Amino acid sequence: MSAATAKLVVLISGSGTNLDALLTSLPGSEIPAKVVGVGSDQDASGLEHARRRGIPTFVVAPGDFPDRGAWGEALGDAIAPFAPDWIILSGFMKLLPPGLVSRFSPKILNTHPAYLPEFPGAHGVADALAAGVEETGASVIVVDDGVDSGPVLAQRRVPIQPGDTEASLHERIKVVERELLLDVLAQVVSNQEGDSAR
Ligand code: GAR
Repeated sequence: MSAATAKLVVLISGSGTNLDALLTSLPGSEIPAKVVGVGSDQDASGLEHARRRGIPTFVVAPGDFPDRGAWGEALGDAIAPFAPDWIILSGFMKLLPPGLVSRFSPKILNTHPAYLPEFPGAHGVADALAAGVEETGASVIVVDDGVDSGPVLAQRRVPIQPGDTEASLHERIKVVERELLLDVLAQVVSNQEGDSAR
């Protein structure tokens, strides 16, 4: 019996180059998953990657709500109609409120541009450069209530080269992030098939 296609909702905050890579790679891959919706906390330029492929998008901005809890509830209400099997934070730069995490946990994954638990937070690439280390990395984790503190599903080292800038290093890390995310999706989607077969 052929497996159902896993539904993915991706959340972004910026240019969404990793989202673009995912949308390009998934259809030709053997991973039975597709992106059914893309959301953001702001009018991010990366939403265009979804729009031009006819994928629905939504924006739920924290500034439109009285507090983080209300924003999280509204963001959850925007996500829920897609009935996602997995929610992927791909450059989503806001910490999810605990209520939102518990609503979808453990089905929220996050890609991060460092070898966690090294350099968590919003400046993982700059922090690695500032620390003067010889290598950093990329990670895909399960989201919990902390800052990039959930279980690591995949990670790989990325060497820092002499003369690296934040931009040059980040570009090389993103190449690895894109591969890791596909590896993780292949893994979690096939586990899900196993679950539903039981
Ligand atoms: C990616 O490197 C992602 O890991 C990072 O933002 C970048 C988004 O790039 N996320 C974080 O730093 C979250 N802490 P993109 O917009 O070009 O896909």
